[in-house]
Amino acid sequence: MENVLISPSILSADFANLNQEIQSVKEAGAKWIHIDVMDGHFVPNITIGVPVVKSLKKATDLILDTHLMIENPEKYIEPFARAGADILTFHVEACENSDKVREVISRIKSFGIKAGISIKPKTNPSKIFEYLPIVDLVLVMTVEPGFGGQDFMHDCALKIPQIKENAPENVIIQVDGGINNMTGKICKSLGATSLVAGSYIYGSDDYKQAIESLL
Ligand code: DX5
Ligand code: ZN
Repeated sequence: MENVLISPSILSADFANLNQEIQSVKEAGAKWIHIDVMDGHFVPNITIGVPVVKSLKKATDLILDTHLMIENPEKYIEPFARAGADILTFHVEACENSDKVREVISRIKSFGIKAGISIKPKTNPSKIFEYLPIVDLVLVMTVEPGFGGQDFMHDCALKIPQIKENAPENVIIQVDGGINNMTGKICKSLGATSLVAGSYIYGSDDYKQAIESLL
């Protein structure tokens, strides 16, 4: 039985064949795709922007699970929402204070889409407890954001139960970074309800088997 939402990260897909790569994970059973937006400031890498999200929206009906690893997220909520993001997850570390965090969350929600908040490996989960009643998703990073293919940080996964204890039941708890069939199992047993996986899925010969091994 499916008890966890799998979100294949297209960061590890072949960008020259993005449409095919998305159809392939859909055929393999994915309902979401994870889109990693990086600005070269919040993280030391530059990846995907608004025009790509806009094209993806036309190409697929999969849920566009969009992970903003950017500074000044408030400036980019509207363009990403209008481009067709279904979920916009931003980093608490990108906001200077609580008012800014709340502003970003309400701006995301004003477009009728899901709001997610993410924490980097060194951020204490207590930093986001006050926002749990007003978000739809919490993204626990189990690698330093910036690149695919890094090793899972076990200690970070221990934040999952702490968040779960403090969150309303309907809040999705997503884990991102170093997820494979073994680490995915650990996260599920700790209470994760969504797993992001990039290199594990896109690096495998059989996307269906890879996705099924995470369920
Ligand atoms: C890292 C990104 C991840 C990345 C995960 O900054 O947020 O979504 O694509 O890649 P894997 O699954 O290879 O660790
Ligand atoms: Zn991500």
